[in-house]
Formats: sequence, C-alpha cells, structure tokens
Amino acid sequence: MRAPYPPKPTPFGKDLRPWWGLDPELTYLNHGTVGACPLPVLAAQEQLRRRIQGNPARWLLRELSDLGSPDSPPLLRQAAAQVARHLGSLGQDLVFVDNATTGVNAALRSAELRPGDEVLITDLGYGSVTLAARRICKERGADLRIAHLPVPLHSGLQALEALEAAFGPKTRLLITDHVTSETALVLPVKDISALAHRRGIQVIVDGAHAPGSFALNIPALGADWYAANLHKWAFAPLGCAILWVDPRWQARTEHPIASWGEERSFQLRFDWVGTKDPTPFLCAPEGFRFLEALGSEATWRYTSELAWSSAQQLTQRWGLPFLSERSLVGPMVSVPLPKALGQEAPDAKRLQGQLQRQGIEVPIKALAGQLWARLSLAPYCDAEDVSRFADAVESSV
Ligand SMILES: Cc1ncc(COP(=O)(O)O)c(C=O)c1O
Repeated sequence: MRAPYPPKPTPFGKDLRPWWGLDPELTYLNHGTVGACPLPVLAAQEQLRRRIQGNPARWLLRELSDLGSPDSPPLLRQAAAQVARHLGSLGQDLVFVDNATTGVNAALRSAELRPGDEVLITDLGYGSVTLAARRICKERGADLRIAHLPVPLHSGLQALEALEAAFGPKTRLLITDHVTSETALVLPVKDISALAHRRGIQVIVDGAHAPGSFALNIPALGADWYAANLHKWAFAPLGCAILWVDPRWQARTEHPIASWGEERSFQLRFDWVGTKDPTPFLCAPEGFRFLEALGSEATWRYTSELAWSSAQQLTQRWGLPFLSERSLVGPMVSVPLPKALGQEAPDAKRLQGQLQRQGIEVPIKALAGQLWARLSLAPYCDAEDVSRFADAVESSV
C-alpha cells in the first residue's frame, strides 16, 4: 500500500513540514547539503527492505540486475527508466551511483586523457570533485587548471566569458557545476557545453543540486557526462544519485569499482558493484512521485520565488547589493552578510556555530572577501524561517 501524500493545493511552508522527520525545534535552511527525505518515501523504502528480506537471494541475485537473467526487466533498469522520464532521458543512458562524487569519479576515469592534456575546473568547483580531478590528472600525466569565475556572478554570460578566456590549446576536458555549491547559482551549462565542444573539449557536468530543483532535460544540455544527486532535491533516500552518459561514451565508461559487470554492458558495470542495499535506487521513482504529488511546477515556483525574495529582502535590510540575475537563482541562494561579522573562514565557522547553537542550520561561507549564508528554501521552508535566521544574524553582530 502506498503511503498517502500531502493534500492539494499543496500547503507549502510550515504546514508541509510534518511530511518530513525534521526536528520541530530546528530552523532548517540546509536542505541542499545532504537533502532530507520525505516520510512517505522512507516508508516505501522500509516496506521494500522488508520485502527483500523475504527472499534476499531472489531479489538481490535474480531480480535486481541483468546478472541474474530475470524474466522481466531487472528492477534497477525499471527504476532507471522511471527516473529517466523526469530527466528527459532514456533509462538505458542512465545508471545509479551512490552519490554525485562517485558519478564524477566514474566520468573522470572514463574521459580520454593523455599525458600533457589539460583538464579545466572552476575555482567554485566542489572540493571533493576538484580532488578527484587532481587524482586523475596525476594518474594520466595531465595538468589540472583552475579557471576563475567572478563572485558575485552577475549573469550567465559572464561565466561563459570567463570559461572561454580560460580554455587553452591543450584543454581536453572541462568539469563544470550546474549549480555551484559555494554561490548556489545556476550556470548556463547548455551554452557552456556548446562552447567547449566547438573547441573539441569534452564536458563533465556536476549537477549535484539540479534534479528536482527545476525542470531538467539532461540530454538537451549536450554534455558528455552528467552526474547528479537524487537524494537532495529529488527526495530520494540517502545514497542515491545518477550518472547520465552520452551514448558515444558508454562503452568506455567504467564504475570506479570493478565487479561482475566489468566485461559486460555499461549498465551492468554500475548495476552490480558488489552486495549492497539497493533500496535508495529502487525508491528513487518514489521521490519523484512525492515531488509530483506536491506539483513540480508549483514547487519550483514557490521555492525559487522564496529564494529570490529572501535575497532581496535580506540584502535591503543589511544595506548590501544582490547582484546576480534572477535566472541564476533556483531554490538555493547565497546572501552576503554584514561586513561586521568578519570576512574569513574562521569568522564563517564561528557564525555557523553560533546559529547552530540557536537551532538554525545554514552553511556560512567566506568567499571573495566577505561572508555568505547559503539558504536552501525547500518546500517546507517559509518567510518565518528566513526572518528567524536574519534576527539571529543581527544578534551576532
Ligand atoms: C556542487 C556539488 N558537487 C558535488 C557534491 C557532492 O555530493 P555528494 O556528497 O552527494 O557526493 C556536492 C554536495 O553538496 C555539491 O554541492
């Protein structure tokens, strides 16, 4: 039996919050960090876990993947096909991985890199991804170059110009965020991919925050590999992400862990990487079902409007400019904080700790000589959460 969903019209904000297991005392403005899974999705996962335990060998060895030659399509392929419909993709072009980090690692090891080639990443790239790129460059004798993206970024065009200026004659691979972790801004990855491809540069997109944040058609973006979490904004259980691969590169795309699928198909190299709990992957469609029950369009309108209006109000309140275009803002927004709070990483850590002690979860970052709060405006957040955060910031000055 499927768990019930919130009523229509969706009561966004605090009335929606009981559909999550979040501590009622918390002001939770940190959905983007590791997500938060809605209770109906967790209930579906628990039900599936129990079903699997009724005959673990049957479900894991025979029904899950093509390793077991099941009569009907393997469960993971069925789940991939359902997820793919929400991402504009075909199920066969998409595999599950535990998280975006694993997806980017797989893409990196599958890109064609020779000694002397250059890999370009931006200085806003996520730390673990930059470290993974550094490792692959070391292994292949390639060079890693860091392109500077302006902060604050005013427009998508500015990002394109910065990347174009950073491409060199030896650049073979670009790793770009779709939504950057530090600034929360949505980059024009379709135009970035086209720009790179005109120079024969392959593109890996780190879309960790994108699925479920806004309408997304991965193949239309024109990247070569696209890795993304479903356990953030697509409401899947923790440990659920995808890697989409352009059909041209699937034969050479490998999971970082070799297992029984090694000499078989692209899909099987990812569908079986040893014994593990498959329920985060199998419940990914349930996460999208929850988003659809809220109304995806209505959710995106609510969350991005709340992010945008919060940025306007807070910066006006603190007499600071907010310089990024509306089109760069999704459900997360990084807001500059009053100068009096400091400008370096230790100041950010101190303020974040102070807010945590007051029951407010929000990442504070030091970037370009000032502090920023990255607010995640999930569908269960509202203006009251933002106002509580602002009052706490002012009391810390
Ligand atoms: C831009 C970006 N890339 C990659 C990641 C890594 O995600 P995960 O820890 O799920 O692999 C994050 C995490 O927040 C991120 O913000």
